[in-house]
Amino acid sequence: MKVCMMGTGYVGLVTAVCMAEGGHDVLAVDTDVRKIESLRRGGCPIFEPGLESVLQTQLANGRLRFATELTAEDAVDVAFIAVGTPTLPDGSVDLTAVWACVEELARKLPTGAMIAMKSTVPVGTASKIRKGLADRGRDDLRVASVPEFLREGTALEDTRHPHRLVFGVASEEDETLLRRLHAWVDAPVVVTDRNTAELIKYASNAFLATKISFINEIANLCERVGADVTQVAFGMGLDPRIGPSFLRAGLGYGGSCFPKDTKALAHIAEDVDYEFKLLRAVIEVNAEQWKAPIRALEAHFGDLRGLRVVLLGVAFKPGTDDVRESPAIALTTDLERRGCEVVHCDPVVQTLTVEGRLYPVTDRPSEALQGADAAVLVTEWPVFLDMDWEDVARRMRSHFLFDGRNALADVASLEGLGFTVLSVGRAGCKTANRSRTVWSGDRST
Ligand code: UGA
Repeated sequence: MKVCMMGTGYVGLVTAVCMAEGGHDVLAVDTDVRKIESLRRGGCPIFEPGLESVLQTQLANGRLRFATELTAEDAVDVAFIAVGTPTLPDGSVDLTAVWACVEELARKLPTGAMIAMKSTVPVGTASKIRKGLADRGRDDLRVASVPEFLREGTALEDTRHPHRLVFGVASEEDETLLRRLHAWVDAPVVVTDRNTAELIKYASNAFLATKISFINEIANLCERVGADVTQVAFGMGLDPRIGPSFLRAGLGYGGSCFPKDTKALAHIAEDVDYEFKLLRAVIEVNAEQWKAPIRALEAHFGDLRGLRVVLLGVAFKPGTDDVRESPAIALTTDLERRGCEVVHCDPVVQTLTVEGRLYPVTDRPSEALQGADAAVLVTEWPVFLDMDWEDVARRMRSHFLFDGRNALADVASLEGLGFTVLSVGRAGCKTANRSRTVWSGDRST
């Protein structure tokens, strides 16, 4: 089929590349001229494992093309919209880029083509687009909601093997068209109306964010009652009704999705006079969670002025160079306000901009940790977990480690090297790193 992808951000680019891999002819459109020029040469604008090589293969076999605009001559069966939908200051969603695409598509799409919405948009947007198209004399165009569930860092795998496809459609013909388009994907398909599809996306992200804030609150409680949150999560997760995923306590959720989508859903509820109390609490808990290392540093050092503090990890999670809503940003501002010198280290992020100031980021932990007083593990990159800690101990001026992701395996050995190691939800709990699986066949352990 002939596919057009409006937008070459994370979702747009990965979907375009995978659609080409799935056998379709794909034209990916973005208004950013330099980005398109670079993409045409096979340059990948984002760090996403495996993406560049698939991009180059699909470019070479001619299935994937890039352009700065769609022309009326381009044959298109389905045009995806995958542009940014940022949060406005009041928590609502900015749909400017979405409507700009709709305008362009209304002028250029051939008769009977489909507009499939991939961007995360408020409930009712697809229906509004349908009406907007009718107002522009394009009653012939179909509109569907096809939300995306890929994660950064595993985007290719998630797109090739998703847990489900969700098709929000207005007719059986639209469903048939989307099934043909996704024939290369082996996954359960949820066929529903457009509003429901839009809400499935928000509800999924909000629920995952709820799991994270829930376990972070349990972690805060663990610190006060002397329990170990990693083992609480492990014990909970063995119940299949709960499941083990998204129960890692830490510095809270970041990235371009959960913070934005939780606020948007709360705003969507407000718009229809419903106060989504649970979601408000999820957002509030997350807004405080990055402060855990600050409290620990203050308890340990008292006055933080003059301390050299290293942030191990700048990306909001491992496997990506995305720093949006990373706890590293709030930590940098706060530590500097308290008079610390903040040093940044990350294997892929090269610079960090905080409040207009550009910070260099080294990819060499040994360099960053030289003469440091404290280190905070912000992102659980493997390179930080496998460090030569004896060497680190020699380099640091004082030996304070805060494990913001509960990811350091052998805390006892680190303590043996003279480190004070604190983490999230395990304060004062000496059994912190003794997580053991007790299988039913071995009930004695
Ligand atoms: C998330 C969803 O997982 C995807 O399904 C969705 O498609 C995507 O948002 C989106 O809406 O586009 P992503 O933001 O790439 O994907 O990252 P996740 O792996 O979900 O992690 C989000 C944040 O939660 C990270 O900051 C991570 O460190 C944190 N997290 C995750 C925890 O603190 N604890 C956990 O147990 C899991």
